[in-house]
Amino acid sequence: MRDEATQISQVRRIFNQVVPVYDLLNHVLSAGQDLHWRDFTARAMRLGPGAKVLDVATGTGDLALAEAALPQKPLVVGLDLVPAMLGPAKAKVARRGARVRLMAGDGTALPFAAATFDAVSIAFGIRNIPRRVAALTEVRRVLRPGGRVYVLEFTTPQRPLVRRLYRRYLMHLLPKIGGLISGDEFGYRYLAETIMEFPTPAAFRQEMAEAGLVAPRSHALTKGVAWLHVAERPL
Ligand SMILES: C[S@@+](CC[C@H](N)C(=O)[O-])C[C@H]1O[C@@H](n2cnc3c(N)ncnc32)[C@H](O)[C@@H]1O
Repeated sequence: MRDEATQISQVRRIFNQVVPVYDLLNHVLSAGQDLHWRDFTARAMRLGPGAKVLDVATGTGDLALAEAALPQKPLVVGLDLVPAMLGPAKAKVARRGARVRLMAGDGTALPFAAATFDAVSIAFGIRNIPRRVAALTEVRRVLRPGGRVYVLEFTTPQRPLVRRLYRRYLMHLLPKIGGLISGDEFGYRYLAETIMEFPTPAAFRQEMAEAGLVAPRSHALTKGVAWLHVAERPL
């Protein structure tokens, strides 16, 4: 088990390096499913007109952009620990004229007042944050009472055959393809490990409850490769 400081510096190094090929790799390694997962997440959001949404670990901004394109026309803030990841996000926002504000920041110390947002999302970011419950507690603080958090994340599927095939893919194929395209096989091996170490959906719902979020529930996507976990700040 790596210590927290080592994990954070790994995450910074990997995401600083992967920026130019991040979107392409996502599409290749998920066989195009990543676009569908983020769209599903944005469409699952229950938002009123003029809602304010925070996308934590926004990376190259695709979920923030899918949220900004919703018919309710929310104002979206995208925040990420690694400023370089925001470069492609800024270019996409400018190209589309989207209502998305982008900023650097840490998901475990959000630079916002309590009860600022109607909804918070985190796509494939929470597993890169060693102190998950601290991050979820911050999410609860910045949500308005009754507001919801939407966490999209991988986990290893539970059905034995699918699980065995998926683990093989994660340990062997993913680092090879990731390494070929990004030049950082080690980084992709690390990412594969974070997927395998991520808690089961039930254990993650327990962590959301520990952070003071209520009514946690999870929806399986693509045979349980990805999950959308939803919970609320109590009224
Ligand atoms: C796999 S990417 C996901 C990006 C994007 N949400 C997506 O769906 O493609 C993970 C992102 O989490 C960010 N990240 C890691 N630790 C973070 C933290 N403590 N606070 C905010 N962002 C963080 C990384 O910089 C990276 O951009």
